[in-house]
Amino acid sequence: MDLGLAGRVYIVTAATRGLGFASAQALVADGAQVLVTGREEQSVAAAVDALGGPTAAEGVVADNAAPDTAERLVGAALARFGRLDGILISVGGPAAGTMLGTPESAWREAFESVFLGALRIARAAADVLEEGGAIGFVLSSSVRQPIPGLAVSNGLRPGLAMAAKTLANELGPEGVRVFGLLPARIDTERVQHLDSLAADPAGRRAAHEASIPLRRYGRPEEFGKVAAFALSPAASYLTGIMIPVDGGAMQGI
Ligand SMILES: NC(=O)c1ccc[n+]([C@@H]2O[C@H](COP(=O)([O-])OP(=O)(O)OC[C@H]3O[C@@H](n4cnc5c(N)ncnc54)[C@H](OP(=O)(O)O)[C@@H]3O)[C@@H](O)[C@H]2O)c1
Repeated sequence: MDLGLAGRVYIVTAATRGLGFASAQALVADGAQVLVTGREEQSVAAAVDALGGPTAAEGVVADNAAPDTAERLVGAALARFGRLDGILISVGGPAAGTMLGTPESAWREAFESVFLGALRIARAAADVLEEGGAIGFVLSSSVRQPIPGLAVSNGLRPGLAMAAKTLANELGPEGVRVFGLLPARIDTERVQHLDSLAADPAGRRAAHEASIPLRRYGRPEEFGKVAAFALSPAASYLTGIMIPVDGGAMQGI
């Protein structure tokens, strides 16, 4: 199937590694150009190189939490590529912790990057996207069921999912689509770090794998391909939805 990505331009935030990078790779593999971000100059430059260099990718050093990031990214994409067809908003995951043990400062910090930053970036993209454009939010299975030890994710992500749904309703009449992706146990540094917090990291991983119907963690490229499809013109009648990429782990339908 031709996804129709050739000649199209996408921003992918938090894309120097993990899910964002895999999504950028999948977009480029099907002919799109991408603007990728991260907070460190060296890793942004390395990501641009790994994506095929300046003909395929542009890099911008930016923190999703910074108030000027949204306008900077959209401006940079238009200046470099002359158009914008969509955006995938990922960000570093919030700190691990229980509901009772998480300090207010951790909630505030995560709210700025995970929640408010994402809304700002989505709004700035919405201002310039035209019919056929798409906005994707990388969320989490915590939208639908709590993840033990990730209280901040459990608290913020369901609200962001409903904000995305609201945005889909508002932008639908303009032909702009909005969706969320709900990853669970995709084998990135983030998940490896979370497993490492257990007394027995290998045991923690084995227990998770045993609870996943496909009996393994996902590969980042498996997530990236879903993201590229959902952003592409091939998904032109998908909007207002949350798409799990979880090997069947979530038990709701
Ligand atoms: N992997 C999974 O199975 C899974 C499951 C549920 C939810 N998620 C969520 O999906 C998102 C991506 O996860 P991942 O597994 O790809 O994580 P990851 O492997 O840790 O990668 C995170 C990426 O985000 C960048 N980043 C971090 N904070 C940023 C910020 N404030 N502004 C801009 N870029 C930032 C990092 O680069 P720098 O550090 O250089 O900035 C890096 O490129 C996270 O929010 C995570 O909680 C992932």
